[in-house]
Amino acid sequence: MKLTAFVLAAVLSVHGALDAKIKAKGKKYYGNIIDSNTINTAQVTNILNTEFGAVTPEYSMKWEATEPNQGQFTFANADAVANWASSRGKLLRGHTLLWHKQLPGWVSNIIDKSTLTQVIRDHINAVVGRYKGKVYAWDVVNEVLEDNGNFRNSVFYRVLGEDFVDLAFRTARAADPKAKLYINDYNLDYNGPKINATIALIKRLKARGTPIDGVGTQAHLIVGNLAPFDETLKRLASTGLDVAITELDIRIAKPVDAAKLAQQQKDYATVTRSCLTTPRCVGITIWGVSDRNSWVDGTFPDYDSPLLWDDDFREKSAYTGVDNALN
Ligand code: XIL
Repeated sequence: MKLTAFVLAAVLSVHGALDAKIKAKGKKYYGNIIDSNTINTAQVTNILNTEFGAVTPEYSMKWEATEPNQGQFTFANADAVANWASSRGKLLRGHTLLWHKQLPGWVSNIIDKSTLTQVIRDHINAVVGRYKGKVYAWDVVNEVLEDNGNFRNSVFYRVLGEDFVDLAFRTARAADPKAKLYINDYNLDYNGPKINATIALIKRLKARGTPIDGVGTQAHLIVGNLAPFDETLKRLASTGLDVAITELDIRIAKPVDAAKLAQQQKDYATVTRSCLTTPRCVGITIWGVSDRNSWVDGTFPDYDSPLLWDDDFREKSAYTGVDNALN
């Protein structure tokens, strides 16, 4: 017994294995993403195997990937991720069922309620049904609100109004009763109309008995710019839902220098500690292993270096920030 405790303490104070350390603090996982672009890259899969306990497919479960044409489902890449996870005992987060981006034109062009209702049901039944029992949590709806707190003018909202959210959650619950069902969004890291509207929407959903289990905060952050992170995470938890940090990265305005990397180390520690001190926070997913594969390069060309490993898969000081917070 004593020896076990000693060995455990020794394991926890050594460098590395973020997932084991966060689990020792009562959380469910420290996760990352994987998809067809990285699944055959040994440096990525080695890091995922040793450091992370959950994976999210970066793109292959999105609508354009799973149902590019009505009723024609393509699951090869998504299956590969699901099999990768289950064969290694990793949790799988499903991402995402309804999103206005990476959505095929045949869906965006629908104009009548009954057609869109049936299309949503068919899509969710097919995708959630295929991975039934294998997905720990689904991002059921993604980015449904604007920064000003209004509903985004997506096809879903235009045609169905707010009811589309309830429809999506109810359909997903029926298709996989054990999966945790999440609303997911970005810019929930700051106080203002968006987080207020998100919390209000969650309250309405709960009041209507809509089956929702969690709120995901993407946390695409900027170095040196996350003062209220801990407060906003706790505000999300005050809804009574599980909370997950679902797409964490902390990008640096170019040019990257030592001072900014040092701030990034602090910021990664801040986010990790916020989850640790928020009882309803179940885990953290980082949106990429190596800076080499990050979406930031293409999406925010004035920024760089958002992750824990650099372009050559060397550990950055950001990694130490996470590790220190967990030790
Ligand atoms: C991004 C992926 O990283 C890219 O590979 C893809 O081309 C576009 O989507 N919010 C989300 C994620 O919910 O799905 C997005 O991922 C990043 C922003």
